[in-house]
Amino acid sequence: MKITVVGTGYVGLVSGTCLAEVGNDVLCLDVDPEKIRILEEGGIPIYEPGLQEMVRRNVAAGRLSFTTDVEKAVHHGTIQFIAVGTPPDEDGSADLQYVLGAARNIGRLMSDYKVVVDKSTVPVGTGAKVKAAIADELAKRAVDIPYSVVSNPEFLKEGAAVEDFMRPDRIVVGAEEEQAILLMRALYAPFQRNHERLIITDVKSAELTKYAANAMLATRISFMNELANLAEVLGADIEMVRQGIGSDPRIGYHFLYPGCGYGGSCFPKDVKALIATAQDDADITLKVLTAVEEANDAQKHVLTHKLKARFGDLKGKHFALWGLSFKPNTDDMREAPSRELIADLFAAGATVTAYDPVAMHETQRIFGDDSRLQYAENPMGALDSADALLIVTEWKEFRSPDFDAIKQTLKNPVIFDGRNLYDPKLVRGLGIEYFAIGR
Ligand code: UDX
Repeated sequence: MKITVVGTGYVGLVSGTCLAEVGNDVLCLDVDPEKIRILEEGGIPIYEPGLQEMVRRNVAAGRLSFTTDVEKAVHHGTIQFIAVGTPPDEDGSADLQYVLGAARNIGRLMSDYKVVVDKSTVPVGTGAKVKAAIADELAKRAVDIPYSVVSNPEFLKEGAAVEDFMRPDRIVVGAEEEQAILLMRALYAPFQRNHERLIITDVKSAELTKYAANAMLATRISFMNELANLAEVLGADIEMVRQGIGSDPRIGYHFLYPGCGYGGSCFPKDVKALIATAQDDADITLKVLTAVEEANDAQKHVLTHKLKARFGDLKGKHFALWGLSFKPNTDDMREAPSRELIADLFAAGATVTAYDPVAMHETQRIFGDDSRLQYAENPMGALDSADALLIVTEWKEFRSPDFDAIKQTLKNPVIFDGRNLYDPKLVRGLGIEYFAIGR
């Protein structure tokens, strides 16, 4: 099938590449010539395990190409994926200008039937707006060309995006016209494996499904974070509580890990956007989600509170920080808890030496050259003359460190672990003061 993907960001590039991998002829469009240049030279503008090799393989096979030429892109694909950004407005609602701009381009230039697929995370009702934008452009041209608008939300996780796309739990397609449903079925047939994973809904339900999934997961995390804070005061161990409730199949083990708050490009933005949609379009205040967001904002400062409780004034203190990205296997710093922590430490007059396997460049871009924030070449290198070690991202290489070396290198043998990586008994038994989340 001939497919166009508008937007070579995270979702667009992963989707386009995986669709080429199964044999489709995919053209990816981006307005940013620099991104297209990098892609054409075999690089990728983001960090995602397995993606670069897949891009190169499919480019070499002639199934995947890139362009900044809008007209060429519109003519190429029968299926046109819109996977452009939807940055939040000041009030938290998603800004649709790029989505609707892409839709208008399609309406302005198309000459035969198109299935226009919203892949970006967009508020309920966007499908209708996309449809209207295309209709408006066709009316301006005084032509009547058939098209369908489909919602096909993406559930991929950063760091596992290729795997998530190639082996999905479910594929949600909101489509209301027979021709579009048939084409989407054919498109996703290679990803079904041995049982039906395609869930066909109406357009609005598909749009809401995406928000519902992320909001539910964010709710689980905030719930566990609040209970962790409670467990700590009561003298219980949240890890034991987690296992105790996770064994109930109605609850399940996934996504119950307490920590120093959720971050990333999806949860914070989608929770905000769903609250805004409910308020603006339905005059409904989502009380649970409002609390989920508040609890998460507070949780990002949990390590700061623990530090102040342990050291009192942080002025002049120096800390080692392991992990910067919002989660492992990505250099993504969007809404990362490390940003709040670093800002708190600066505000309190402390300095930091950080180590992260891939996100140090991105962090330097965000914080600029600031003498209060230094970077180490390896985890142990961050510890020199530090008053304590702080951990905010659960990279694999932090899981089994040399505790003796940590103890000898730090000024004080103290670890503040925002991801509960270690067995408290073991670490404390080695003579290290250990502060974790909820235990
Ligand atoms: C998420 C969804 O999982 C994905 O389906 C959707 O398409 C996009 O949003 P992503 O943002 O890449 O994916 O990361 P995810 O692995 O879900 O983690 C999100 C945040 O929650 C991270 O900051 C992580 O540290 C935190 N988290 C996750 C917890 O604090 N506890 C948990 O138990 C799980």
